[in-house]
Amino acid sequence: MILGCLSVVLSLYNRLLDRTECKNQLLFGLLGNIMTEPNPNTLYPISGVERTVFLKNILDHPQVSVGDYTYYDDPLDVHNFERNILYLFEFMQDKLVIGKFCQIATGVRFIMNGSNHPMKGFSTYPFKVFGGAWADTPMQVVSKGDTVIGNDVWIGNGATIMQGITIGDGAIIGTNSLVTRDVEPYSIVGGNPAKLIRQRFDEETVTMLRTLSWWDWSPDKIAQHFELLNSGCKQQLQAFLEQA
Ligand SMILES: CC(C)(COP(=O)(O)OP(=O)(O)OC[C@H]1O[C@@H](n2cnc3c(N)ncnc32)[C@H](O)[C@@H]1OP(=O)(O)O)[C@@H](O)C(=O)NCCC(=O)NCCS
Repeated sequence: MILGCLSVVLSLYNRLLDRTECKNQLLFGLLGNIMTEPNPNTLYPISGVERTVFLKNILDHPQVSVGDYTYYDDPLDVHNFERNILYLFEFMQDKLVIGKFCQIATGVRFIMNGSNHPMKGFSTYPFKVFGGAWADTPMQVVSKGDTVIGNDVWIGNGATIMQGITIGDGAIIGTNSLVTRDVEPYSIVGGNPAKLIRQRFDEETVTMLRTLSWWDWSPDKIAQHFELLNSGCKQQLQAFLEQA
């Protein structure tokens, strides 16, 4: 049935080609209709695959924000990403901010500030939480601030990000890492605690990439410059920025 439809479309297309001088325009017009950019508001961006979601479409929490095209992959329970954001409580008022085009693998977890117990006293026991006669016990819990993940960050399977961590644009977090310190843009870290494995590019290239901020471009512009974005070529990047 599908093959039948396809052959009808192809024969119509061939007849049109025979009659028109503008074969390329016709071809690109047709392709333009078929090859639209993925829509960031789509839940399942990969046709027929229900284990990968554009994350912002499954999260609705006032303390969490996720940028366009950031995806989460999880073969078991992709819709329940909130289970990976641990100890996020309203009274702590901390936020999880995730940029655009991040790639988040199965089991990546964010430990938020509600996980902190008092540490300055002689006991870490949270007496106050249990109320009753203990309700007025002072409890000083320290917040380490918001967790901020930049743009185009790849977080490997099972990695855990601790409270108040900032991960720079373009960073890579290795499988099963425990991230306890901020991660510089375009660096690769791994291990427990996560340590620098290497920088992805030299300092000058990183500065240029951050100036480029391609993740803020329109989808159209991104598509026009895939060659540059995939090249990893410093000279090409330099030339592009000079003529921009
Ligand atoms: C971090 C990572 C990107 C590095 O890849 P790579 O550059 O090819 O790394 P290599 O295998 O050459 O290893 C380089 C060094 O990093 C170490 N390393 C690699 N991955 C590591 C990890 N997850 N934790 C700690 N150290 C790690 C290696 O032991 C090696 O150390 P050495 O130089 O002392 O021997 C990769 O190992 C990784 O973890 N990828 C994430 C995969 C994933 O989880 N994908 C999810 C589905 S999208």
